[in-house]
Amino acid sequence: MWGGHFQEGPAPLMEAINASIPFDRRLWREDLEGSAAHARMLAARGVIAKSDLDAILAGLERIARKIEAGEFEFTTALEDIHLNVEARLTEDIGEPGRRLHTARSRNDQVATDFKLWTRRAMARADALLKELQRVLLDLADRNVDTVMPGFTHLQAAQPVTFGHHMMAYVEMLGRDRSRFLEALARAGDCPLGAGALAGTSYPIDREVTARELGFARPMANSIDAVSDRDFALDYLSAAAIGAVHLSRLAEELVLWSTPQFGFVRMPEAFTSGSSIMPQKRNPDAAELVRGKSGRVLGHLQALLVVLKGLPLAYSKDMQEDKEGLFDAVDSYELVLRATAAMLEGITLYPERMRAAAGVGYTNATDLADWLVREGGVPFRDAHGIAARCVKVAEERGCALEELPLDALQAVDPRIDQRIFAVLGVENSVASRTSEGGTAPLRVREAIVAARVRFL
Ligand code: ARG
Repeated sequence: MWGGHFQEGPAPLMEAINASIPFDRRLWREDLEGSAAHARMLAARGVIAKSDLDAILAGLERIARKIEAGEFEFTTALEDIHLNVEARLTEDIGEPGRRLHTARSRNDQVATDFKLWTRRAMARADALLKELQRVLLDLADRNVDTVMPGFTHLQAAQPVTFGHHMMAYVEMLGRDRSRFLEALARAGDCPLGAGALAGTSYPIDREVTARELGFARPMANSIDAVSDRDFALDYLSAAAIGAVHLSRLAEELVLWSTPQFGFVRMPEAFTSGSSIMPQKRNPDAAELVRGKSGRVLGHLQALLVVLKGLPLAYSKDMQEDKEGLFDAVDSYELVLRATAAMLEGITLYPERMRAAAGVGYTNATDLADWLVREGGVPFRDAHGIAARCVKVAEERGCALEELPLDALQAVDPRIDQRIFAVLGVENSVASRTSEGGTAPLRVREAIVAARVRFL
């Protein structure tokens, strides 16, 4: 493989530590596309003959067919996908196969293949996020009026609607999509043609290969082209943030599906029972959506550490870029699909949510706001009055709206009969009409706007 100056073959342990074929075979399609584009360009520039090109393209085509059929024999002796393909091609077509690597190095080749693969993963992430937004929007649409408690510090805070809560996730996923799309645009420069690191003396045309492979342009600097793995870091950081978003949603589903909350029932097909406790229905899929975020975050950290302190240009450390990204992509795509499927089959218990929405004096702010609005009381004073009303209700073990008027007036005489009209949870929700607020009126508008922005 390396020509005349090697006398011995590699040690078995060298082969074990060095080979990337067990995992980088996933790049086969991109490797074949990259080679075809490179060969066409070489022929167009007169670097190889038209007859060589024809043999190469036909040979690459046969390899594609073999790999698709599962009949290609990958070997660790040939280290990686690039050498496996090239060796097989040469075996098949002879000398033209030995001309393919003209004006190319595995360094620009692997950067190109991997970047191409990652660009496709970015586009898939955007599409899967969009599909999940659609599921969330439909769920929100059906639950614009479904009142539930909103929480801060996981303490009952103010009533909101389930629709409004789902729309929070639609917004988060919208930002996730923009991170992937920005990453995709940033990954628009093609490394091919950088050679080992310095460029090449052949009259290559990098514009043509870049465009044929779907890139916008060639990378401007050949050293950067073979050293850069920012596109993988971009995917991993977007996926890390995205996985954290899904983990938060999954955690809420886990919480809401406990008997203590009882807000939702997870679709049976995404839960499991217990081998000992007959009553159990465990939200395994949601737990795994939450749990798998750990690996995605870990893979981002791992690649940052691999690259930190690496001198320019290519070092073999960079071969460690692939397994983590592949696993992150597989995991993130899986949790995106599983979350969408779970939400499509979820059952809500609106009566339980509504009942819980009124527990814990979630209408105390409404009382204070009424005093400000109707009594001209400064908000800080109104806050204190409402807090004292809560204390009285707590002592009597009842809700604010269950206190007799004279008990409320004993706290502050400016409170009158009209207060009872504002203390219901529906009223509370309907009153929050500020832009981005939970009032059904606003949420309906938000859903319409989000469909235009996102779908
Ligand atoms: N298998 C290598 C990788 O994934 C390909 C590049 C090898 N380049 C080299 N100069 N040894 O990074």
